[in-house]
Amino acid sequence: MAGNENYIAAIDIGTTKVSTLVGVVKRDDVLEIIGYGTSPCRGIKKGLVVDVGEATKSIVSSVEIAEKEAKVFIDSAYIGVTGKHISFLSNWSEMVVASPDKVVKKTDVDRIISMANKFSIPSQYRVIHTLVKQFVIDGEEGIEDPVGLSAEKLGVELLVIYGSAMPIRNVINSVRGANIEVEDIILEALASSEAVLTPEEKESGVVLLDVGGGTTDVAVYKNNKMVFTYCLPVGGNLISNDISIGLNIPFSRAEEIKKKFANADYSLVDNLNKVNVGDIELDRNKTALSIRLYTIVNSRVKELLELVKKQIENCGFWYSLPCGLVITGGSSQLKGMLSLANSIFGMPARMGIPVDVEGPFDVVNNPIYSTGVGLLKYALQLKKAENLNQFGRRVRRSSGIMDKFKEFISKILKNED
Ligand SMILES: Nc1ncnc2c1ncn2[C@@H]1O[C@H](COP(=O)(O)OP(=O)(O)OP(=O)(O)O)[C@@H](O)[C@H]1O
Ligand SMILES: [Mg+2]
Repeated sequence: MAGNENYIAAIDIGTTKVSTLVGVVKRDDVLEIIGYGTSPCRGIKKGLVVDVGEATKSIVSSVEIAEKEAKVFIDSAYIGVTGKHISFLSNWSEMVVASPDKVVKKTDVDRIISMANKFSIPSQYRVIHTLVKQFVIDGEEGIEDPVGLSAEKLGVELLVIYGSAMPIRNVINSVRGANIEVEDIILEALASSEAVLTPEEKESGVVLLDVGGGTTDVAVYKNNKMVFTYCLPVGGNLISNDISIGLNIPFSRAEEIKKKFANADYSLVDNLNKVNVGDIELDRNKTALSIRLYTIVNSRVKELLELVKKQIENCGFWYSLPCGLVITGGSSQLKGMLSLANSIFGMPARMGIPVDVEGPFDVVNNPIYSTGVGLLKYALQLKKAENLNQFGRRVRRSSGIMDKFKEFISKILKNED
């Protein structure tokens, strides 16, 4: 970031809006948002850039607003990626602890990670994150940090998150078209989790759902590590679309109706109540029973949640997620969403808004900014992991896990493997 190296910027390119957030880390290590800009997004469908020119325009406009507010010039930013092309694999490696005292050292951890960091993915894909899923010591799973523990054998399981090169390249090109350098790309599910989940939830076991306009991003955490992720290319736009078709009203009016009157939970619906779904500006009245609106919305949301549930049931942690569901993203505000999710999943459900961040009320209390805030939070972790001294001056790279990004970005732009 030009002018002051303490600032950090993130751009969340969502299906319905682009938001640019500028943050600064205060003395007590707390992130403060000092400027943000949001602009309606065109050129994005189901989380994917389908028109680079349009996406760039939205990026430029959100960046300009954020720059004005933060009084900084943004020349680089962290960017979120999502889409149904995102996938992951787990890779496992084990070794005998070499030292005579059989105490695991940092060098052992670096070695086992680099051993497990050898895998192959299809040539059209690119690795986005390589994260430690768990360490295993003499067969005992779920170890978070093995350094200092006694062991005969040390194992590690990595979670390798990857995505298709083409959609990632489209995101990067949209940002570069706005004359902004991409510092790094970060999985949106990971970013939203960083913003809204508490350390206790991540430790005990929790499911994060970011239900946006075009996608539902999923992350599962156990023992403080992400163990599963998934992107369903369905979000609130489809609910509005169903309302638009079902009630024969324009999409924009369906959006309004959804936000004001729709309810996904039957117990909250008054069967006999009627809603004016007509065009108020044109003074055209048209009524629909609340129960009709409920039926449309409930069936779409139920379908969405059941699809997500099916995926999570297979992730191997279904029975050890005591903290239940945390739902964020704009569609988490749909009335009845939490209670419906609670009954479908059989788990407690709460709404997720950004935590441990200071700044404008509209950002820190708003689930539509979870990804943006999380991008900043995760970026700060990356910087710490890289042992950046005072932001910007690279002292020493850590084990090389986390990212090989500069190499990755130059390859992806040249279309190399
Ligand atoms: N009060 C509300 N009730 C119901 N839905 C709402 C409400 N407020 C916002 N939404 C819905 O939230 C969605 C936008 O959420 P969000 O800003 O998180 O999406 P996005 O980041 O643009 O898209 P995505 O992450 O899916 O690519 C829209 O479908 C919008 O209709
Ligand atoms: Mg989003």
